[in-house]
Amino acid sequence: MNKTIVIGCDHAALDLKLKVKAHVESKGYTVIDVGTHTNDSCNYPDYAHAACEKIRGGEAVLGILICGTGIGMSMAANKHRGIRAAVCSDTFSARMTRMHNDANVLCFGARVVGEGLALDLVDAYLDTEYLGERHQKRVDMLTAIEDNEAAR
Ligand code: RB5
Repeated sequence: MNKTIVIGCDHAALDLKLKVKAHVESKGYTVIDVGTHTNDSCNYPDYAHAACEKIRGGEAVLGILICGTGIGMSMAANKHRGIRAAVCSDTFSARMTRMHNDANVLCFGARVVGEGLALDLVDAYLDTEYLGERHQKRVDMLTAIEDNEAAR
């Protein structure tokens, strides 16, 4: 099983990302950190793109993207084919988006959640398996939207 997680952030979330990175590593995962690596102002789509490329290329199985709100990261990630990114600020949603939506990217906001909740979100997300079965048809419908958009 691929136990590699890609993580990324913008300048609003560097401190929290480093805590999340250490936490994910402590759970036995290998982490690819696509940046940012400084507090200098930067643009979240660059880091969402870098992380999604790792997932699309098979180097990472899941991703975690953090910006100020998580919203910009999720918007940018969801522009990528095959990426299902969910911005969550409660553990129920973080768990359910793995279970039902097969979300392959978890996003949250460093200006929205504190460290404790962030690590709980990560646990809820990473410790949950996709159920498949009846949910696969719906995930396939998401892929069909991508196919239709690509053909327009
Ligand atoms: C940066 O100030 C902020 O806009 C960004 O981190 C994010 O919250 C965007 O969605």
